[in-house]
Amino acid sequence: MKVLVVGSGGREHALVWKIAQSPRVEQIYCAPGNGGTAAIAENVAIKDSDIDALVNFAKDKAVDMTVVGPEVPLVLGLVDALEAAGLRAFGPSSRAAILEGSKAFSKDLMALNGIPTAEYGRFTEVERAREYLDRVGAPIVVKADGLAAGKGVLICQDLEAAHQALNEIMVDQQFGAAGTEVVIEEFLTGTELSMLCFTDGKTVVPMVSAKDYKKIGEGDTGLNTGGMGCISPNPAYDQALESLCLEQVCYPTIRAMAADDRKFKGILYCGLILTTNGPRVLEFNARFGDPETQVILPRLKTDLVDVFEAVIDERLAELPVQWDGEAAATIVLASAGYPQSYDKGFPISGLDSVSEVEVFHAGTKLSDDQVLTAGGRVLNITARGAVVQDALDRSYAACEIVEFENKIYRRDIGI
Ligand code: AMP
Ligand code: GLY
Repeated sequence: MKVLVVGSGGREHALVWKIAQSPRVEQIYCAPGNGGTAAIAENVAIKDSDIDALVNFAKDKAVDMTVVGPEVPLVLGLVDALEAAGLRAFGPSSRAAILEGSKAFSKDLMALNGIPTAEYGRFTEVERAREYLDRVGAPIVVKADGLAAGKGVLICQDLEAAHQALNEIMVDQQFGAAGTEVVIEEFLTGTELSMLCFTDGKTVVPMVSAKDYKKIGEGDTGLNTGGMGCISPNPAYDQALESLCLEQVCYPTIRAMAADDRKFKGILYCGLILTTNGPRVLEFNARFGDPETQVILPRLKTDLVDVFEAVIDERLAELPVQWDGEAAATIVLASAGYPQSYDKGFPISGLDSVSEVEVFHAGTKLSDDQVLTAGGRVLNITARGAVVQDALDRSYAACEIVEFENKIYRRDIGI
C-alpha cells in the first residue's frame, strides 16, 4: 500500500512511524512533513491546507490511503475532496469536522442532546455579548468560535479582563474570521482529561488514556501551549470513568452527528474536565492530539492501517483493537520564547547518541543532512517503561543528550 500522511508536527511523525510498522505498507509520503519524517517517508512540499494539490498528488501517485493529521485540512474538506476523486481517506468529512471547527455548533449539539458541558451563550453581536458578560459575571471563559490554532480561548478572572477578551476577539479580530462569533462559557474547575477514540460513526473504540501538560512553565504556570509533555496512562482515568464518558459523551455525540447527516468517522477527541458534578466537555477535536498521539501510538498493538481501514469501511465493531500494558511518556523540547516568538535555524546534535527512546520531530527541518530547529515545539523525546516513572526516566536522560541553542523543557512532566 501507499499511504500519504498530511501534516508536519510530532503527531504526524508518530503516525508515519507507526504506519511504517505495518507489513502492508510499502511507501509513505508526508506532506509537508519535517526533518524526522524525511527518514522514513518521502516528504512532499505541499502545504496541509492546499486541498487541490494534495488531491492531485494522491491521484498521481495512486495513493491507497490518506491520513489527515491537523484540523485545518479536515475543516477545509480534504477528506471530501479525496473521496470525490475516488480515493480513500481517514478523517471526518468537513460537515463532521465542524465539531471542532465551530465551538458554537458543538455547544448547541451538546445542549440539544443532553451532553454534559459548561453553561454558555453564543453571540455574533458584541453588544449582546457585553450584556451577557455583565449579567453572568466572572470568572468566565471567552472563546472564538472558529479555529484559532489553540489560541482562541481566553480565561478571564474578572469582568474587566472578560470585556477586554471580547474586544480582542470581536472588535480587534485578533483571530480573524474565527472571532466572528464568540462562545461565552461558565468557568469550570477540576482535573482535565483527554479521551481519544476511534469511531466509524457507529462504534466508538476508546484509546488508552493520556495526560497532557499544556502550560509552558513548571507547576502548570504561564501561557498555554500546544502541550509540553504527555504521559500514558493518565492516573485520573479508570474503567468506570471510561464507561461513563462513552455513555454520556461519545455515543450521544456520534448519534447526534449521524442524525444531523454529519456521520463522524475518524478520531473523536473529547477534552473533558472532571468537576464535582461529573465530567463536562470543554471541547471536541476531530483529530489526534499532539503530543497525546506520541504516547498513545507506541502502546497500540493492532496494525494502525487495519484500524484506519475498519473506520473507513465502517466495520470497527468487528476489529479487536489491542493495547500494550506498558506506560509511555514524552517530553517536548522547545525553543526559548515559545509559545510566543522564538528563534529558529539552530543545528540539533546528539540525535544519534540517545538510546531507549523514540525521538519524534515536531518543528525541525533537514538542511544538507543537518537537522535544524524550525518551530516552537522542536522534538518529542518519547520512551516506554513498565510504569510511567520508568518511561519518564528514559526520556529525561535523553533530553540531556540532545542539544540545540535555546533548548527549554519542563522537568516536571508526570508529577
Ligand atoms: P479548549 O480549547 O476549549 O479545550 O480550551 C483550552 C483550555 O482552556 C482547556 O484545556 C482548559 O484548560 C481551558 N478551558 C476551556 N474551557 C474552560 C472552562 N469552561 N472552564 C475552565 N477552563 C476552561
Ligand atoms: N494537545 C492538545 C491538542 O492536541 O489539542
